[in-house]
Amino acid sequence: MTKLWGGRFTKSAEEWVDAFGASIPFDKELVEEDIEGSLAHVKMLAACNILTNDEASTIKTGLETLLEKAKKDELDYSIQNEDIHLNLEKFLTDEIGPVGGKLHTGRSRNDQIATDMHLYLKKHTEEIMDAIKQMQQALLHQAEQHIETIIPGYTHLQRAQPISFAHHLLAYFWMLERDYGRLQDSLKRMNVSPLGAGALAGTTFPIDRHYSAELLGFDSIYENSLDAVSDRDFILEFMSASSMIMMHLSRLSEEMILWSSQEFNFVELDDTFATGSSIMPQKKNPDMAELVRGKTGRVYGNFVSLLTLLKGLPLAYNKDMQEDKEGMFDTVTTVKGSIKIFTGMIETMTVNTDVMAKETHSDFSNATELADYLASKGLPFREAHEVVGKLVLTCIERGIYLLDLPMTDYKQASSLFEEDIYDVLKPSTVVARRNSAGGTGFEQVRKAIESGKTALQQK
Ligand code: ARG
Repeated sequence: MTKLWGGRFTKSAEEWVDAFGASIPFDKELVEEDIEGSLAHVKMLAACNILTNDEASTIKTGLETLLEKAKKDELDYSIQNEDIHLNLEKFLTDEIGPVGGKLHTGRSRNDQIATDMHLYLKKHTEEIMDAIKQMQQALLHQAEQHIETIIPGYTHLQRAQPISFAHHLLAYFWMLERDYGRLQDSLKRMNVSPLGAGALAGTTFPIDRHYSAELLGFDSIYENSLDAVSDRDFILEFMSASSMIMMHLSRLSEEMILWSSQEFNFVELDDTFATGSSIMPQKKNPDMAELVRGKTGRVYGNFVSLLTLLKGLPLAYNKDMQEDKEGMFDTVTTVKGSIKIFTGMIETMTVNTDVMAKETHSDFSNATELADYLASKGLPFREAHEVVGKLVLTCIERGIYLLDLPMTDYKQASSLFEEDIYDVLKPSTVVARRNSAGGTGFEQVRKAIESGKTALQQK
């Protein structure tokens, strides 16, 4: 079989070597973007009188036929034609004859693949941004229903202070808000056209790069042809933002896994997002959350592998760069899938408010309150801390909690204690009083929900 680039060669290729060098097994994913790029290119060639209108229209019809076939999965790709570009060129000339060979005038596979990847990632970045919005919506919706649901808040995974469950959920809302912002920002640099940079140095044809860029919806063109064909920063930025998204989801996964355990029992996951055990009939495993936590690794891996791949590459295109695709596709699929799973999981989880209420009444997470109480009455905080520490110890010895301790004990510990401490110690009072900006106080949480809604509306 003759190669499209075979003119200079005297020996025919070995099949197994071709197979090693080919990217078609994975870059066929870019078929629609490749055709879209070609359609813009040919329109530009005609507008610049580089091709006649007849030639351009024949090529356009041929490309449209190929697009139809691609959508129906009717294209029979071959390894011998190496990649998506050469496969499509072959299909095109089979379809419309030698005029198909004119499509490649004034461009190279190097600017072509860069264009395809920009188009692909732009589309998927926007889709992921949309998915983030859905998940934020789900978090906001659950938060709205649980402003006054109180859970223990933790540091070091030790009970620290009671907080509103909504406040905990909203922390993830704001992480996702930053994730969204990062992707939005990356779009600015991604939405630039490399098309027309040629192999590396531009072209002798009087092309109009601005016109093809405009046809493809790009905001601008790369200023430098070498940079245009060798830049993969836009993928790295996407992968870095994706790594952070996965890190956030992985942290939430861990919470879901803990919360749905018998030990916590704070939430019950909907059956759709859990699985049973083949041997232990009682089990309901949070598989989907675990899987998202696990998949975080491959997203980091893809990021590090592309960084490593590019390190030390001289300008401009090098075949190494063919290795940039699978990780990008994998990151897109993984991030999209993970966000979608989490959106469903949050929307459908049952919150065990009674368990949470019981738990916040059976711990010492209100101890800070007592110390603050004494401090506000003039006792130096260090001393107050000491007094309360001793009271906690007394409770532990008697197997009770601070709310159960009689007034006589309080009076004995410090004459500053009055009857009102029983109200101060109630979890709902503890939470309500943390009314500083961004705190867990119910009033603050209500405000945060409103700001969250505004943030979503502005998208
Ligand atoms: N399949 C190639 C890739 O994915 C396309 C660009 C090939 N360019 C070249 N000069 N061999 O990187």
